[in-house]
Amino acid sequence: MLQSMRIRGGQPLNGEVAISGAKNLALPALAASLLTESKVILKNVPKLVDIRSMLELLDHLGCNIDCFEPNSISISTNNLKSTDAPYDFVRKMRASILVLGPLLSRFKQATVSLPGGCAIGTRGVDLHIKALQLMGAQISIENGYIKAQANHGLCGCDIAFPIVTVTGTENVLMAAVLAKGMTRLINAAVEPEVVALCRLLNNMGANIKGHGTSIIEIEGAQSLHGTEFEIIPDRIEVGTYAIAAALTSGKLLLKNCIYDDLTTVFETLQNCGIVFEKQDKNILVYRKEDIKPIDIQTMPHPGFPTDLQAQYTVLMSVSCGTAAITENIFENRFMHIPELNRMGANISVHGKTAIVTGVKKLFGAQVMATDLRASASLVLAGLIANGKTVVNRLYHLDRGYAEIDKKLTECGAVVERFSV
Ligand code: UD1
Repeated sequence: MLQSMRIRGGQPLNGEVAISGAKNLALPALAASLLTESKVILKNVPKLVDIRSMLELLDHLGCNIDCFEPNSISISTNNLKSTDAPYDFVRKMRASILVLGPLLSRFKQATVSLPGGCAIGTRGVDLHIKALQLMGAQISIENGYIKAQANHGLCGCDIAFPIVTVTGTENVLMAAVLAKGMTRLINAAVEPEVVALCRLLNNMGANIKGHGTSIIEIEGAQSLHGTEFEIIPDRIEVGTYAIAAALTSGKLLLKNCIYDDLTTVFETLQNCGIVFEKQDKNILVYRKEDIKPIDIQTMPHPGFPTDLQAQYTVLMSVSCGTAAITENIFENRFMHIPELNRMGANISVHGKTAIVTGVKKLFGAQVMATDLRASASLVLAGLIANGKTVVNRLYHLDRGYAEIDKKLTECGAVVERFSV
């Protein structure tokens, strides 16, 4: 049954929000457990539909999975029965592609469904495939599946990515840790989740250097071993709740954040008039003045993350001027804009750029979520809109925001989930 969220706008958010573990690290970390036959224990794993989808895939492959409180998962893969990731798993979540590198490097074969398109753009995996081919894999595309083999194992080599790809870097990293010799990734992603994945792999016995820079060097190891590892906080969740505090003129203490992972976002939001007080691992967020319009461009890390663009658009929709928002990562990531305009926003799209002129008020409406971050932006808009907003197709939101209803309600929002 489809779920929707009814929001009565106008309540300031005050209180504390416990930030969950990062989805975009937990997913590759779960895939990394395929690299060893020993037990990998992950802590601070967020309770999300995407995590459940990845666990279902690992279960299908034959992993032994044990979930225990609070938010810990142990996985061991000493009895794997399959190296195939069928369409039904991959279609639910693109990040399932992350099992390709680990399966291929440890078991010398993998068959993974091609993810296909998604709401925010074409999002190919050609760069993942080309890199693995350079490492000696024989790869063919048959009936919508990537069939990969490396009968004599993968070999290290230099791989220069023409554009920065986050999961591409992660997939190839996980292939390289068990390859013969040295792999050098040039123009590698430097996202905090990539850096943390490298730390996890090194804890498992991999030899990775240079993570956090655009050149990562991986000296292949014979085998990896088990470990225990804590997932870092979700910086996109931090940014979303920070924007929520500012939008609703509330005051939120965001608990368990890594301030340095969001420097560009905090700088931008400070320029908009939002105050951040760093208190050890927590951040207090509020605003004292009207929201100022500030232009942004989404870029790979450390630039402004595309995963916060939709939420930032809502902030600009009630600023005291006009801001230009340019989306450089995905070609179709403005799907929230027609819905925001239906709520009274004044936004026009010109190619890659949205021109957002602030209005005094948004008004409640029935709106449709099209992807994960677009859904979050519609919830934010609902929190400040006059009257009642209903956000339909809520399943997108549950893919990436752990216990969002509970977190919002505890801070004073009036939200209610219902099935349709
Ligand atoms: C990851 C994140 C996602 C975030 C995105 C950009 C995860 C699970 N997801 O997605 O939340 O929005 O990074 O920060 O970590 N591309 C190709 N060919 C490829 C690979 C990518 O053309 O083989 C293109 C994509 O279409 C896109 C750009 O490269 O235009 C960047 O995409 P990428 O960094 O790969 O995004 P994801 O890893 O899928």
